[in-house]
Amino acid sequence: MAKEIKNILVTGAVGQIGSELTLALREKYGNDNVVATGRKTEPSPVLRDSGPFYFINVCSRESVEEIVKKHDIDTIVHMAAILSGDGEKNPALAWDVNMNGMMNILDIARDHKMAQVLIPSSIAVFGPGTPLENTPNDTVLKPTTMYGVSKVCGELLCDYYVNKYGLDIRGLRYPGIISAETLPGGGTTDYAVAIYYEAIKNKKYNCFVKADTRLPMMYMPDCIKATMDLMEAPFDNLKHHSDFNVGSMSFDVTTLANEIKKHIPEFEVSYDPDFRQAIADSWPSSVDDSAAREEWGWAPSWDIEGMTKDMLEKLGKRHKEGKL
Ligand code: SER
Repeated sequence: MAKEIKNILVTGAVGQIGSELTLALREKYGNDNVVATGRKTEPSPVLRDSGPFYFINVCSRESVEEIVKKHDIDTIVHMAAILSGDGEKNPALAWDVNMNGMMNILDIARDHKMAQVLIPSSIAVFGPGTPLENTPNDTVLKPTTMYGVSKVCGELLCDYYVNKYGLDIRGLRYPGIISAETLPGGGTTDYAVAIYYEAIKNKKYNCFVKADTRLPMMYMPDCIKATMDLMEAPFDNLKHHSDFNVGSMSFDVTTLANEIKKHIPEFEVSYDPDFRQAIADSWPSSVDDSAAREEWGWAPSWDIEGMTKDMLEKLGKRHKEGKL
């Protein structure tokens, strides 16, 4: 039986997903009941002013536990992580934050008898040997990045804590997430966000992966919905825990550029692949998310047409106001 969620701690709340997820959680669970935390980036005014905010370091158990006690936290949404690109530049840091940081969160959850912990995983768990089209939920997990290695270990560690300590832990494998509010940082899928900003600002974009690179992507409203739907699902219905594939849309860069050109005909893309090409090539083009659909009713709402129109409207407005 799932326990009631009352007071939530969000780590990585200043990040791309955390900054929007925190606001959505505050709307649902109450502003004062959702404590946002980050490591060093200043929060936006709306994040800072809409509820409690603290700087912590997830690698320091004390700094997390202090907030847990102070706010009587019963649920942790653990978004803090070093992504694939940055992880290859500093593998030791990626291991430290993604593994030791996660273990701190799990130990605190166990010792404080938390109602629930949500820890996202990623399409980065896949790698050579995994079928790349319609990738099954349960398949070969042999990633080639430190980010992927840490996420595979993380999924296993979460299952271990579910089985050994009876904790309620959930997680989903995010694809590339696209949003107009906060920029992603250090990921391989970041081009799919940068392309919109550059289309609006300069009408051209130099892409760091090749034109035919095709990866699974998701628009932020679906990402928030998936995360909150999973948090609210009855625990007893879940056969998987921390490793749900969630699909939404898949496209290559040419298709994305052509969609943007429908709105900005003079938009041009050039290609200059870097080390992230090999990472992208090792990840699926599309995922089979039938486990998420069956176990907690996942269904995406956005497609590439609707997302592109919305992204360009939002970024275009900010650009006109001189805020981009
Ligand atoms: N967006 C992430 C990355 O590119 C994948 O989860 O690293």
